[in-house]
Amino acid sequence: MDTRNIGLRNIEVADTKICSIDGENGKLIYRGYDIFDLVNHSTFEETSYLLLFGDLPDRENLKEFSEQLSNARGLPQSIIDNMKNRSKLARPMDVIQSTISELPDYDPEMNSDNKEANIKRAINLVAKIATLVAAWDRIRKGNEPVQPLGDDANHATNFLYMLTDEIPSREESRIFDISLILHAEHSFNASTFAAREIASTRAHMYACIGGAIGALSGELHGGANIQVMKMLLEIEKVDNVDKWVQTRLDNGERVMGMGHAVYKTTDPRADILARLSKIISKKRNTPWYDITAKVEDITRKYMREHKKQPIYPNVDLYSASLYYSMGIPIELNTPIFALSRIAGWTTHVIEEKFAEAAPRPALYRPKALYVGKYCGPMGCEYIPINNRSEKN
Ligand code: COA
Repeated sequence: MDTRNIGLRNIEVADTKICSIDGENGKLIYRGYDIFDLVNHSTFEETSYLLLFGDLPDRENLKEFSEQLSNARGLPQSIIDNMKNRSKLARPMDVIQSTISELPDYDPEMNSDNKEANIKRAINLVAKIATLVAAWDRIRKGNEPVQPLGDDANHATNFLYMLTDEIPSREESRIFDISLILHAEHSFNASTFAAREIASTRAHMYACIGGAIGALSGELHGGANIQVMKMLLEIEKVDNVDKWVQTRLDNGERVMGMGHAVYKTTDPRADILARLSKIISKKRNTPWYDITAKVEDITRKYMREHKKQPIYPNVDLYSASLYYSMGIPIELNTPIFALSRIAGWTTHVIEEKFAEAAPRPALYRPKALYVGKYCGPMGCEYIPINNRSEKN
């Protein structure tokens, strides 16, 4: 049996003060604060401040931070024009990734890579990505982007408003705000590790975030919430869940939104999102929460009955039904994940670049075992192309 840690599982690659996950007991902690406390008492703005600066803000700090976000929300007209020139079929994650890489063109401090400049960049990115996701959704549908509301509306309200051109209800805005808090940070997941790996080369913040967005788009990571919604639409009604899940698992395929690389019990975020999804599904009279809950039940039952390793719902299982019931298009599920996780990514990039305590982060350079392809690991004879047989 191969006992190596393929995929870097359980390998400690750095020290971090940002986030702690207890996978056995389903606990998630941002900067010392339990996710349940943040969800009950905090906002996305406050949580972003906590992540970025390490402590909860006082009133004055929060006001200033909210104003900084508000001032940074608008997009340069040339960026909007570039988006308008794209194919309307372009996938939102691709548009976001490439548009993020235009932002350095408008950053007046690109010659500086000190901590202060990176904090400003982090705030700029947290603010702008929401505008960008909303603007692209409108542009691809042939609508004009909507200008942000100003600093009397919070980030969640602003995003929903820019997306729909309607002020959301207080309840939906708060539910969306909670979802943003839940997705803001998750330690060394694939996209955060990608961001930190790029930061370790001393590439700039925007390059790190572009890489993280690419990593998040994959269906085993942030892309799973799109696959979950496709699955729910395919299942269509509660009565179909049993057969659908059974067939899928009998075929050795995965049920998206179930299982996690770290949690060996229910992901605490899934617990909270399930409650939110239930509220919105009921209010909007959609079947999506009920179908999702049954997918969870049947998958867990199947694993038990087939004596397989138990799997539990992860963050993507209930966010899909929540967003869809709110009327958000499926393709925006992963971009919305990104517009929240950017708070964590940017914080990690800063930690990677400016960690004060030893061991200082170093350029990431893991080792791979070279196993060769056709002719063994070493000593291949170079044969000119005209002399190569098909076998070569
Ligand atoms: N559906 C069915 N079986 C699953 C499963 C799922 N969603 N997730 C894991 N398993 C099974 C695997 O098939 C494997 O079974 P085996 O030992 O019989 O081969 C076992 O559980 C362990 O899988 P493995 O991929 O090694 O576990 P992991 O901890 O590395 O997996 C994920 C983590 C996230 C990659 C995996 O759970 C998955 O693919 N989930 C679906 C995608 C998803 O929701 N991603 C979002 C993550 S937040």
